[in-house]
Amino acid sequence: QLIRLATIYPVEFIVRNIATGSLTKRLGIADGTVLSKPLIEYSYKNDDLGDPLVAREHVLEFNWVPDAAHLDLINDYCLRINDFMQGMFRGVGIKLVDFKLEFGKSYVDKQILLADEISPDTCRLWDVSSEKKLDKDRFRKDLGNIMQAYQEVARRLGIIHEESNISEVKFGKPRAVDFKKK
Ligand code: TMP
Repeated sequence: QLIRLATIYPVEFIVRNIATGSLTKRLGIADGTVLSKPLIEYSYKNDDLGDPLVAREHVLEFNWVPDAAHLDLINDYCLRINDFMQGMFRGVGIKLVDFKLEFGKSYVDKQILLADEISPDTCRLWDVSSEKKLDKDRFRKDLGNIMQAYQEVARRLGIIHEESNISEVKFGKPRAVDFKKK
């Protein structure tokens, strides 16, 4: 791995192609509504405040990203990454519904870097024909088969061995422990 030190901008960039999740809850939009073009939302990375949704004006006013030119560039990167990933996933029968990205400034050459993982933990991925969820919503909504779903994504992308033998650990029901009195 090539590691580069970066200062992360305290903003999550959410890119959406299909309305679901917090967008539908917040605005009462029907789940699964296909958006006319990708929608970029910003949330301020602050756990104590619950990562609130903010406007472009907040991002600039509070200097979370240095200036408008930087923010425009990051928006362009988001759209280009979305184009690339939509095509990549569509090629293996998966709809890229939405995802989250973080960016930072490289410590050495001050370039803007995509500085985040991209995985089923940070994307919503639906099977094209069945709309089956192949992402972290299986965990969030307690749908089960999370490892199988993640492996399915990796298998379709050709980044897991066909005979890979990873499986979920089955834990039994928790039982109270009997402590014997001495
Ligand atoms: P949301 O519908 O809950 O706002 O999520 C939108 C997308 O962003 C979804 O693919 C999950 C991803 N996401 C993260 O990866 N980390 C986060 O902290 C949040 C809020 C969303």
